[in-house]
Amino acid sequence: MANDTNRFQAIISHCKEYGFIFPSSEIYDGLSAVYDYGQNGSELKKNIKDYWWKSMTQLNENIVGIDAAIFMHPTTWKASGHVDNFSDPMIDNKDSKKRYRVDHLIEARIEELEKKGDKAGADALQQAMDSLLAASDFAGLKKLIEDQKIKCSVSDTGNWTEVRQFNLMFSTQLGSVSEEASEIYLRPETAQGIFVNFLNVQKTGRMKIPFGIAQIGKAFRNEIVARQFIFRMREFEQMEMQFFIRPGTQKEWYEHWKNERMKWHLSLGIPKEKYRFHDHVKLAHYADAACDIEYDFPIGFKEVEGIHSRTDFDLKSHQEYSKKKMQYFDSEINQNYIPYVIETSIGLDRTVLMVLSEAYFEEDLSTPEKQDSRVVLKFPPRLAPIKLAVLPLTKKDGLPEIAREVMDACKSQFRCFYEEKDAIGKRYRRMDAIGTPFCVTVDHQTKEDQTVTIRYRDTMQQERVPIADISRIVSRQIEG
Ligand code: GAP
Repeated sequence: MANDTNRFQAIISHCKEYGFIFPSSEIYDGLSAVYDYGQNGSELKKNIKDYWWKSMTQLNENIVGIDAAIFMHPTTWKASGHVDNFSDPMIDNKDSKKRYRVDHLIEARIEELEKKGDKAGADALQQAMDSLLAASDFAGLKKLIEDQKIKCSVSDTGNWTEVRQFNLMFSTQLGSVSEEASEIYLRPETAQGIFVNFLNVQKTGRMKIPFGIAQIGKAFRNEIVARQFIFRMREFEQMEMQFFIRPGTQKEWYEHWKNERMKWHLSLGIPKEKYRFHDHVKLAHYADAACDIEYDFPIGFKEVEGIHSRTDFDLKSHQEYSKKKMQYFDSEINQNYIPYVIETSIGLDRTVLMVLSEAYFEEDLSTPEKQDSRVVLKFPPRLAPIKLAVLPLTKKDGLPEIAREVMDACKSQFRCFYEEKDAIGKRYRRMDAIGTPFCVTVDHQTKEDQTVTIRYRDTMQQERVPIADISRIVSRQIEG
């Protein structure tokens, strides 16, 4: 198995080679931090989306889904605080003119210290950075960078500018380009589409608190330091759920959603030790408590999901800016109030990266007689892009015709793939590389007794089963 840095690079190359993820507009040398999903990546992503959507809206009777527009009235972003607060402290190197996010620069130094075994130094630096960030002490952050002798990776100098804030929202023009009033933003989070529709959904759905509104959609951020493949992108997708509650109950609901979300993560078959909670030290402008669920990526433990207790900040602020009442009448206690909100917000692309990282294995299958190896993606069957490959052993003797019948019997239930080219071993390896959990091979015995071999991806074991049983075997595994 490759070491962690190599493993990350190997996963990126594998994604490109097997149709999962390509750099965007690659024929023009790509676009920084923007990626396209290929034929297998888009299926994987859709399966993750469906699994999340079902877990939210189908398994919770009090959660419904919406699909709001990406473009929103510009006042939305004034009310949400994004115009004034959605910025990161940045620092520029005067020699290379390269711009860095201050926390990323210091985090890289922390990682260096950890690698050298200086755990105490790393912890102290982490603490110093957290408290300076919490206090928005920019001069202190610059001093910390200088004291640590942190250098720019391009110029190799420590010739830094002051630390400044940069807004991460993309703007564009609606209608005439010359009027200032027509400037609008590409949404930096999907959450606001839920808040502005709170009353529409509550009234038309006759929803009673506590209830949730879920949404999956694109978000855009002009990330200054864009790296690490699909971990940090400028165009990405979020799966968010805002849960509206009675004021004063936020602590218990916050704990409830922390538990529920961790259960969802574990249901992906990822072991508990690969996850941890990270409590926020510096809270966002809207939150009274917040944590991240971090996963142990090949690049270290990093945030995949945020859980935020958002108070009544958003609805209250929209009420103020729109002059429309955002209140809810709680008939159980006979009171009007603006609900509090617990938010769960998971990055879809980061979840794709997490599932890929967990699934990727390089296996040595050598025997004393022969060197052999395979790369296999051990996806949970429900997430695999293709569930079943149907492979006639040869292209003749009527085997393709029988294989086509198997395809026809199964393809309306789950995604199948038919292939007759190359030796069967080669075809199995190709299916392993894209994570297909089951292959059935139609051979000469099939003609006699209507049975096929089914090969299981993870164990590579094969067994003989009646054709009539295939669909049931595969469906049962997909359902888990
Ligand atoms: N509505 C709350 C919100 O947007 P966030 O922590 O900024 O909170 C939520 O983002 C999730 O969105 C993150 O946990 C991460 O998975 C994903 N995310 C944020 N920025 C991202 C980026 N530039 N590229 C990919 N995913 C990103």
